[in-house]
Amino acid sequence: MRFPLAEAINPNPFERNNTMEVIVCKNYDEVSAKSAEIVAAVIKAKPNGVLGLATGSTPEGMYAKLVEMNKKGEIDFSGITTVNLDEYYPISPENDQSYRYFMNKNLFDHVNIDKAKTNVPNGAAPDGDAEAARYEAYVRSLGGADIQVLGIGRNGHIAFNEPDTELVPVTHVTSLTEDTIDANARFFASAADVPTHALTMGMGTILSAKKIIILANGKNKHDAVMQMLKGTVTTSCPASFLNLHDDVILVCDEACYNG
Ligand code: GLP
Repeated sequence: MRFPLAEAINPNPFERNNTMEVIVCKNYDEVSAKSAEIVAAVIKAKPNGVLGLATGSTPEGMYAKLVEMNKKGEIDFSGITTVNLDEYYPISPENDQSYRYFMNKNLFDHVNIDKAKTNVPNGAAPDGDAEAARYEAYVRSLGGADIQVLGIGRNGHIAFNEPDTELVPVTHVTSLTEDTIDANARFFASAADVPTHALTMGMGTILSAKKIIILANGKNKHDAVMQMLKGTVTTSCPASFLNLHDDVILVCDEACYNG
């Protein structure tokens, strides 16, 4: 199913030409296949392009499909540069819970990418603020990502931009909310082991991407996705800032969409 957001959700979308598209898939496998197809199209169109990548359980299936496509010779990563959204702080890149480790394990170790062109904020940098500034300048120097892949937190967070009264537009060090620590505890021995801080692109960095694809799977993302699809913008749902971009595709499953 594919239709413009305006018709689907909001019959009166504030008279702006809201071009967010919603693709509702039957299940997780279809979400993975559809999103991999969209990312692969960008890689084929721009073999030296910049991919903005995300971690979390949701994009794992998409990465597996991209690995398959690469093995079959359908897509070539040799000229591709990647920029990841975020990383825990502080954390060693060798820690198996770091996002650098996740990316190596799920994608980079299995495709013909030049590891030197893969970028994740450095969780081991001695000065977090300096690392955030360096990373922001680097992403901007690339002209932003050609496509940015996103997941969504159940509280509407994007990367580690958590709901708050104010959001920071650029890459920065942030503290994680209780809800996010709780949601991510499943990957750690206990909630106490989840780092309390992270380095994250800001919503402005994310919105500098030319195209954005946001993946959401399962009923527990329904409320956050519906808040985003209202078409308004609020710092209490960072995902709603995607309404400020004119090339966003949401790929979700029926359980997420229907609630
Ligand atoms: C994490 C990440 C986000 C991710 C989100 C959802 O905290 N920082 O980038 O989108 O949570 O994760 P999941 O896909 O596992 O639900």
